[in-house]
Amino acid sequence: MFKIILITTLLHIFVNKSLINCEDIDLYKKKHPLPRILADTENCPINACEAIKVMSQYFLLTKSGQKLRPQDSTPSPTPTTSYLGKIDPFTLEFELQKKVRQIESRLRAVEQPVWKLTTGSQEEWNHCTAGVCRCNPDTKTFTCWNLNLISVPITQVIPMNMVYIDLSRNLLSTLHKDTFRGLTLLLELHLSNNNLDFLPFDLFRDLDSLVQLRLQSNHLEDIDPRTFWKLRNLNLLDLSKNILRELPEQVFNNMQRLRVINLSDNRIKRFPIGLLNDQKQLEELDLSRNEIQFLESGSFYHQQELKVLDFAENQIYNIKDDVFSNLISLRSLTLHNNRLTVITKELFEYMENLLSLDLTLNRITRIHGEAFSHLKQLRELYLGQNTISTISEGLFLNLENLSRLMLFSNNLTSLYSNNFLGLRSLRNLMLNNNILKKFDFDTFQPLIKLEKLRIDSNKLQYLPQGTLDNLPSLLAVKLDKNPWHCDCRALYLARWIREHVTKLWDCQPMCRGPGDLGGNEVGLLRYDDLCDGQWASMLSLSPRLPVRKHQILNPKNFSDYVQMYNLKYYSTLNPQDVESTTPRWLDES
Ligand SMILES: *[C@@H]1O[C@H](CO)[C@@H](O)[C@H](O)[C@H]1NC(C)=O
Ligand SMILES: *[C@@H]1O[C@H](CO)[C@@H](O)[C@H](O)[C@H]1NC(C)=O
Ligand SMILES: *[C@@H]1O[C@H](CO)[C@@H](O)[C@H](O)[C@H]1NC(C)=O
Ligand SMILES: *[C@@H]1O[C@H](CO)[C@@H](O)[C@H](O)[C@H]1NC(C)=O
Repeated sequence: MFKIILITTLLHIFVNKSLINCEDIDLYKKKHPLPRILADTENCPINACEAIKVMSQYFLLTKSGQKLRPQDSTPSPTPTTSYLGKIDPFTLEFELQKKVRQIESRLRAVEQPVWKLTTGSQEEWNHCTAGVCRCNPDTKTFTCWNLNLISVPITQVIPMNMVYIDLSRNLLSTLHKDTFRGLTLLLELHLSNNNLDFLPFDLFRDLDSLVQLRLQSNHLEDIDPRTFWKLRNLNLLDLSKNILRELPEQVFNNMQRLRVINLSDNRIKRFPIGLLNDQKQLEELDLSRNEIQFLESGSFYHQQELKVLDFAENQIYNIKDDVFSNLISLRSLTLHNNRLTVITKELFEYMENLLSLDLTLNRITRIHGEAFSHLKQLRELYLGQNTISTISEGLFLNLENLSRLMLFSNNLTSLYSNNFLGLRSLRNLMLNNNILKKFDFDTFQPLIKLEKLRIDSNKLQYLPQGTLDNLPSLLAVKLDKNPWHCDCRALYLARWIREHVTKLWDCQPMCRGPGDLGGNEVGLLRYDDLCDGQWASMLSLSPRLPVRKHQILNPKNFSDYVQMYNLKYYSTLNPQDVESTTPRWLDES
């Protein structure tokens, strides 16, 4: 801490003493040519003395930049030329603060105590067990879990043949570079749930055997590209729940055994193309909850073994067509909650082993008719919460193993006979919260295994005769929140409900109209109620009069009704006939 105070004091003196104007800056630059420390990070990313010089200049430029900024009009600050190129004072100040933090954390790491690393003799193991943490000589494991430690316990003895160390759930903010020196047999290292904001680049240099490294739930913002280079045997790396903004392209170099990388819950903006060049055995990659906007060709060039890829909750709006083309083993792809608008023919072309594809909550309006034609193994397809308005003919034709299809919350208005062709294994179909007005009566006929169907929350007024017939596996249908129009055309739905009462999922569908029938449960209405009502409204009697049962003799059944309806609306009906079919009870009033 003393050093930091010293730096800040020096800076204060320096800045306050300076006469700040452009000539001064030029003069200063000439007098103090600065090393290009940002380019030269080979041995020391920041050398304290050089850093102070750079910082001084940053201060100077920040101040002069502020002074140079026009007082009135434009709020945009004047760019200033510095060693970082053209840069505005705000960025400069941000960079400056970042540098100060970097130096501060490096100094903090240097000042961290180190525990006693000793040989693995029986005696040393006895010493180990005498420490504040729990040390088990039989299993060669060690845990300091949840002890509110702000640094490693200085008196603790750690025998070199230790295989497991757990330091998770403490208050560690950094570690000295020698903390794990010589632990060449260590297999697992748990550092999660601490306050780590800095890792010396050589902290893990001796951990040749390490298989698992858990660093999730810390405050890591930057990672030196070299940090993990010596972990040749690492299998699992968990960096989730940090605040990483950038991934250096080389950060996973040499780590050829990596199978699981978790980078979820960070602030990563860019996925560097060469990031996974050495990860030929990678099986799971979790990049969910970051800020990635696009994926470039070649990003997954070597991931023939990848099985799970998760990009949920990013801002991806652009994926190059061939990004996924080498992911031949992929089983689960999650692109939930991004900004995709179009699904091209090529995007999923080579994923013949894919079982689950999640595209929920994007802005998809168009899906190419052959976009899914190669996904022969697909079991689950999530397309909900997009703005899909039509389903191309044959879109699902080859998905013979698909069991779940989610299409809820889209802009579908109609469905046609050919929309669901091929879905021989489909059990679960969600079409709720669309704006469906009509579909062909045989739309669902290909779905011989269908068990659950949701068409609730649409704009359906009628269910075409036969829609739900020939679905032998059907267990539950949700039909409510549609403006069901309870005239004679609702007869099919009303009967279906009565005959399959146990299959109704949740609420009873209600009539929206006509007239008094609005608010009634569709399933309770009988022929007379339905066709009576229609009878009256058909003859444009308004307001509709109360239904009187068993008063109307014609029409008696659905076919009769349809005939009447056609006659009325296609006006082949002779006016005389209309008169003669006027319900008798009208005369009574
Ligand atoms: C990655 O980490 C997050 C948060 O720590 C966790 O919820 C998720 O299950 C992990 N993913 C994998 C693939 O292990
Ligand atoms: C569908 O799944 C079955 C059982 O897992 C499998 O044998 C069959 O090959 C799959 N069909 C296709 C087209 O992949
Ligand atoms: C989808 O429907 C919503 C509301 O129903 C509407 O605001 C939006 O414009 C529609 N989008 C497209 C692409 O049709
Ligand atoms: C409907 O009723 C009429 C008599 O009004 C009858 O002739 C006809 O066969 C019935 N149709 C059906 C499908 O039941």
